[in-house]
Amino acid sequence: MSEDVRRAGLPQASTISLGGSEVHQVTSVGALLLSAKNLTKRFGGLAAVNDVSLELLRNQIHAVIGPNGAGKSTLTNLLSGDLPPTSGSVMLGQRDVTGWSPEKISAQGLGRSYQKTNIFLPFSVWENVRLAAQSRQPHAARWLSHATSFIAVNARAEKALELSGLQKRKNSGAGTLSHGEQRQLEIAMTLATEPQVLLLDEPLAGMGAQEAERMVTLLQSIKKDHGILLVEHDMDAVFALADQLTVMVNGQVIASGKPAEIRADAGVQAAYLGEEH
Ligand SMILES: Nc1ncnc2c1ncn2[C@@H]1O[C@H](COP(=O)(O)OP(=O)(O)OP(=O)(O)O)[C@@H](O)[C@H]1O
Ligand SMILES: [Mg+2]
Repeated sequence: MSEDVRRAGLPQASTISLGGSEVHQVTSVGALLLSAKNLTKRFGGLAAVNDVSLELLRNQIHAVIGPNGAGKSTLTNLLSGDLPPTSGSVMLGQRDVTGWSPEKISAQGLGRSYQKTNIFLPFSVWENVRLAAQSRQPHAARWLSHATSFIAVNARAEKALELSGLQKRKNSGAGTLSHGEQRQLEIAMTLATEPQVLLLDEPLAGMGAQEAERMVTLLQSIKKDHGILLVEHDMDAVFALADQLTVMVNGQVIASGKPAEIRADAGVQAAYLGEEH
């Protein structure tokens, strides 16, 4: 990205006041929503993530690909606050959130799903989404009456259900959903926190062709107004969806660019795509 584009795309942070507390919002379209600079995570002698930098813009899907053990999930954990980096920094909008807790980062507008399905199976679809929406109720809104807050949580949950295409399954038990629908439910739960940035770790894992196709359509539709960092092994989906790609091997970025550039990169072919495609 050129410096001009970067400057033009910088988010306009605005501040609104809610009940005496300030809430920062990042607004402009095409804005730089998330950036990682020189992130490194060491587990003893292993550098699982080694000097990784990347950026994510609004209305963009940035895919992170690479072989098993490349460090993709560890990278998402660094970005979400689930793991503290050994060194490097993470900016969410214009805020340095390095070392923040996952809860604080989530409240700042970052939502994530995990590589392993993470839903409450005995609860209904609606209950799962509503719980996720409730977890996002900002501290600044605590002055709201119980009724107002109840309405706001329900509205967030309804909107997330609608966006994720699960309306018809609202009252089904989460345990009765197909695998594909359960992954869809995780997306709905992430959306219920009203994130600007979504980190999705292998949302297509274990899906059949039809389910994968539905998920691709869903991700395409939620790209609008969000930035999505997508970790995925399904290369058909990745190349159908990604605007930008980062390729990791052994913790390091070996290539970064547009899909056509990545496809044509001999180093990427040798290290990863050659064996997959
Ligand atoms: N908590 C941990 N402690 C020690 N080593 C870890 C830990 N988490 C990950 N690793 C190691 O870090 C490396 C990167 O793992 P990571 O899970 O990030 O890879 P990945 O790219 O997500 O792989 P996959 O495609 O299989 O999901 C691996 O060698 C893994 O064994
Ligand atoms: Mg992983």
